[in-house]
Amino acid sequence: MMQSLNLQLRGNLAWTIAVAECGWQVEVQHRAETPAQDLLDLLAREHKRLDQLMARLLQRVNGPDRVELAPVYTEFAALLRRHISFENKELAPLCAAGEPRTPDAPTAIMLREHEEILRQLSVIEESIAADDRGEVSAFVAILSGTLAKHEHREENGLFPRWRQALSVLSPQARADLLVRAASGPEG
Ligand SMILES: [Fe+2]
Ligand SMILES: [Fe+2]
Repeated sequence: MMQSLNLQLRGNLAWTIAVAECGWQVEVQHRAETPAQDLLDLLAREHKRLDQLMARLLQRVNGPDRVELAPVYTEFAALLRRHISFENKELAPLCAAGEPRTPDAPTAIMLREHEEILRQLSVIEESIAADDRGEVSAFVAILSGTLAKHEHREENGLFPRWRQALSVLSPQARADLLVRAASGPEG
């Protein structure tokens, strides 16, 4: 029952079940308030956070000209760059080892998509610097689509591969990776 409720609520629940005097006692929390269960859970949470920030950014760029973009944009761009940097430095080498060295290998595709996303971020920053709200709005909308497709492809195509690659590491190596993923740039 909890699993079906969680599905309806888009995976936002975390819960524990214990035996109580007259049946079962279920404790439910918002998933974001609980520690990440593993590396892929952490990365999926970062995708969600990026989506939330992107939604707020779209609201702002399409609102009145005087609405300040900087607080939301700064958090969004910093998280996106850190997330991509971690996937490039830590996960790409782990998975590329078992793939053919061809342009259509999953990791090669991911790396190209990351380059495109970073290029789009730079273009947005140029239009923010030029104070051209029309351009900012158009480029943020393009990035929104690019990012949504990228996250979907990662969660459905790469996460199972990453889960497999992580499963052969020692528990300590997996724990160290999780710490580095959560600890920010160069952490
Ligand atoms: Fe990615
Ligand atoms: Fe990702």
